[in-house]
Amino acid sequence: MASSRLKYLSLGVLVFQTTSLVLTMRYSRTLQAEGPRYLASSAVVVAEVMKILTCVLLVFKEHSYSMRALNSILRQEIAHKPIETLKLAIPSGIYTLQNNLLYVALSNLDAATYQVTYQLKILTTALFSVSMLGRRLGVYQWLSLLILMAGVALVQWPSESAPAPEKEALSTGSQFVGVTAVLVACCSSGFAGVYFEKILKESKQSVWVRNIQLGMFGLVFGLFGMLAYDGERVKESGMFQDSLIWRIGLPRRPRSCLCPSVSVCLLFLQALGGLVIAAVIKYADNILKGFATSLSIILSTLISYFWLQDFDPTGVFFLGAILVIVATFLYGYESKPSPNPSRA
Ligand code: C5P
Repeated sequence: MASSRLKYLSLGVLVFQTTSLVLTMRYSRTLQAEGPRYLASSAVVVAEVMKILTCVLLVFKEHSYSMRALNSILRQEIAHKPIETLKLAIPSGIYTLQNNLLYVALSNLDAATYQVTYQLKILTTALFSVSMLGRRLGVYQWLSLLILMAGVALVQWPSESAPAPEKEALSTGSQFVGVTAVLVACCSSGFAGVYFEKILKESKQSVWVRNIQLGMFGLVFGLFGMLAYDGERVKESGMFQDSLIWRIGLPRRPRSCLCPSVSVCLLFLQALGGLVIAAVIKYADNILKGFATSLSIILSTLISYFWLQDFDPTGVFFLGAILVIVATFLYGYESKPSPNPSRA
């Protein structure tokens, strides 16, 4: 069946994209002492523009490469339906808020607490899927989600041989701020994903048109964010801080600067992520997305061990990996859940 093929294809591409993104990020860390020279806030803007342009191309392809059809679909579905378009401002605004909350959380928590606590989003996503989409999960499926959460938490548990990150001792106050930020981000992740799923599955509209609408708001919020956080630096040295794209193809690069091909690769993978997540939400669902990203955490860690040799797998890691795999099979085990009204 075509829809089942698209479901597994999109999930497979998500595993590939997430694994490649994590590996490229790790690899970029081994290349340089400093962080990338470009601004994170301008990278968000570039990624949104790339996502919108790719989605426009996909809509163009969907309409047999007719400029006239593309023009009319964009006008009819986006410009002439402001209420429908505005609906996408909600997940887009929430995702922007979420990205900022995660930044607050990372600045106030150690990486392990952050990663482990953020896995609660697996449960919030399931709860929102049940309450907003009327999805019904069997006992085995709830159990498998709990096992998945525990498994991912263990996989990300720091090994004792890993050097302790040099970080000032975190006060109880900042721990509280960090944990609160992660918990709110877990709720926002579940809600925004399921809200987007509801919009996609309740209308016949193309997923790429929906993604253009989402990306337009993402771009506006991203531009505001860039001006608010880095307005002065952008005014001084431009959006790309004299790096990134401008350096592509230049034979010389300063030693402290992230290799242009790696930074461009990171940008592409991030933009691809937005597209693949949209496809996964459309053809599979948010809960299966959680399984795909959990499997790619294991995959990227293992590849990292063989390739970058910056990780020593411990017994805890293997226990976590086994739990994730068991959870994945257990979720599929009860293969006939009650009919799902949200699925067309
Ligand atoms: O952690 P979580 O899975 O909720 O993160 C989803 C991420 O995917 C967010 O950063 C959001 O900006 C991005 N996204 C996207 N395009 C979509 C859906 C999500 O870029 N259509």
